Amino acid sequence: MSKGRILVTGGCGYIGSHTIVDLIENGYEVVAVDNLSNADESVLKGIAEITGVNVKNHVVDLAEREATIRLFQEEAFTGVIHFAALKHVGESVDQPIRYYQNNLNSLLNVIEGMQETGCQHLIFSSSCSVYGNTDELPVTEKTPRQSAESPYGRTKQMCEDILFDVCKISPDFQGVLLRYFNPAGAHPSCLIGEAPSNPASNLAPVITETAIGKRKEMMVFGNDYNTSDGSCVRDYIHVVDLAHAHTLALDYLRENRQASNCELFNLGIGTGVSVLEAIHAFEEVTGVRLNYRIGDRRAGDVVAIYANADKAGRELGWQPKYNIKDIMKTAWAWEQKR
Ligand code: NAD
Ligand code: WQD
Repeated sequence: MSKGRILVTGGCGYIGSHTIVDLIENGYEVVAVDNLSNADESVLKGIAEITGVNVKNHVVDLAEREATIRLFQEEAFTGVIHFAALKHVGESVDQPIRYYQNNLNSLLNVIEGMQETGCQHLIFSSSCSVYGNTDELPVTEKTPRQSAESPYGRTKQMCEDILFDVCKISPDFQGVLLRYFNPAGAHPSCLIGEAPSNPASNLAPVITETAIGKRKEMMVFGNDYNTSDGSCVRDYIHVVDLAHAHTLALDYLRENRQASNCELFNLGIGTGVSVLEAIHAFEEVTGVRLNYRIGDRRAGDVVAIYANADKAGRELGWQPKYNIKDIMKTAWAWEQKR
């Protein structure tokens, strides 16, 4: 018997598609909604090959209120995982209104659709970007949020605030906010991975695109920071580990184990990895030499950030299995295949 019927918004995207696989493998029934602004439906074939299940995707823009409410009225969901958002930090600086419109309206419409149809469980994709430039390392869920470095980061802070307010006045509404650190890597089957319609800017795809020759060279954005080797430090988390945390979060709500109706969790592996260490990990596991140069610092980069994710271990039973080498190995296998 199914553990529940889950709407996965942004289900054709990178983290959404890996989460759908994990949900199906753990007994959930899934319906996707994605307006295909940064994905295409071919990912559903990969999901079907891995799981044997054909997932339906509704092509709906969740920033459109009527269409979103209609979707909720047409289908009965027991829970929602809300991934759908625009996510490019640099682009958000140039197009703030588009980011606020898309990311805020889609969350508001999803909440309204849930409330109209009595759906009470929501898992929301937040981000370590809500911590801004913090000195407190590793960051825990109690580390105060600083001013966000970009409109994108600000949309995540505002979405969190919307959910805090909704939970305060709606005791039946159960929200779990997951703050992801730096997701990377691909499903070991190589049938799904990161396949954005927009040009990649995150480190792992930039590395694999350089290695395969799509880019002539890549830049390391600064080697004069106050870190062990001068490059910035991040907490890279394998997308398969990240995906599983969503299943565990739904189980946690289903089993009513939450201490409050709005719980926050950091999702990172708790290890800081520098840009140069990530590059060397890639070279070591693949045997491919990367053509990289040291460039200027990138505006808005925080120097170092990594998670304390003990709460997710303790309360969700989440134990990440993969490290930076596994991330690079699977990201490279996926790049070669796609
Ligand atoms: P993604 O772009 O691959 O997936 C998001 C999907 O949402 C896309 O397929 C896009 O087409 C869809 N979408 C966007 N706006 C929509 C709308 N209005 N209506 C319907 N569909 C819409 O991104 P991802 O990396 O899978 O990220 C998923 C979530 O996780 C996002 O909320 C993102 O902000 C958050 N997040 C991502 C990272 C990361 O580095 N990848 C880190 C922290 C948080
Ligand atoms: C990682 C490191 C770069 C590309 C962003 C968002 C964050 C979250 C994750 C969504 C940095 C360096 C990168 C390159 C490089 N996303 N780098 N050369 O900036 O840590 O986080 O994605 O919520 O909110 O801000 O990720 O992958 O862009 O960069 O040297 O060509 O790699 O300077 O130190 P970032 P990233």
